[in-house]
Amino acid sequence: MNTILNVKNLRKNYEKFLLNDLTFQIFEKEIVGFLGPNGSGKTTTLKLLINSIPADGGEIFFLGEKIKKSHIEFRRYIGYMPETGTPYEFLTAKEYLEFMMDVYKVKKNDKKIDELLSIFDLKDVKKRIKNFSKGMKQKLLFISAIIHDPKLLILDEPFNSVDPQTVYLMKKILIGLKDEKTSIIFSSHILEIVEKLSDRIILLNNGTKVYEGEINKIKKEESVEELFNRLSSSNDADENLKKVIEIIKE
Ligand SMILES: Nc1ncnc2c1ncn2[C@@H]1O[C@H](COP(=O)(O)OP(=O)(O)OP(=O)(O)O)[C@@H](O)[C@H]1O
Ligand SMILES: [Mg+2]
Repeated sequence: MNTILNVKNLRKNYEKFLLNDLTFQIFEKEIVGFLGPNGSGKTTTLKLLINSIPADGGEIFFLGEKIKKSHIEFRRYIGYMPETGTPYEFLTAKEYLEFMMDVYKVKKNDKKIDELLSIFDLKDVKKRIKNFSKGMKQKLLFISAIIHDPKLLILDEPFNSVDPQTVYLMKKILIGLKDEKTSIIFSSHILEIVEKLSDRIILLNNGTKVYEGEINKIKKEESVEELFNRLSSSNDADENLKKVIEIIKE
């Protein structure tokens, strides 16, 4: 199996948070679900992978080549969907995709843009992105992540706020892209989707990798939800339920 991404001892130190020597690989033609509680370091890790924030330690190799601080050439081969939208909200959807194609250094192609916008019901939307609904923004960011046919797709909570028919389409597209040899890592809290879509999962807790393994192996023992709660929650849900009811009924 070819290694697409090789992450070694990746470290990021914020005042009150440490991403602690994270090591993992992503192989050709696989979908990796990236899990962890709120604040466990998923978004931080995904931003580090595309070099959008500086690391405090560790190395990342993409297709065998070490990514250096100033390195941007590799971004042409990576699609990234951020968790928090785009700073370019003054553009229309079409202008944004044209701009991103420029960034990726691929030839502008009106037909491609129009067809993709049309499939996601965004073709006739002429307003600026800042006036889009949340789901519309997500759809545009998804298109922008895949439009240049990347080798590696990095998606930060791609299914947030999108309607069920779009979730269905996005899942189909991701499986289709995997069959075409794209590797995918996506973060999500929707464990039903993670369980169906992923070949492997990586679970973070408080900046540390606490689990990495194949979905098929996990499912022989327990559900992904059970695994998640077992390895990342220090509180008993039933206990907390009792407490909450007592508190609000007081
Ligand atoms: N720029 C920053 N400055 C200081 N702390 C930060 C910064 N960015 C993130 N953090 C902290 O790093 C930790 C990890 O945040 P991160 O956004 O990576 O979590 P996450 O796993 O993506 O969570 P969520 O599931 O809520 O999206 C949090 O404690 C967060 O407050
Ligand atoms: Mg996040």
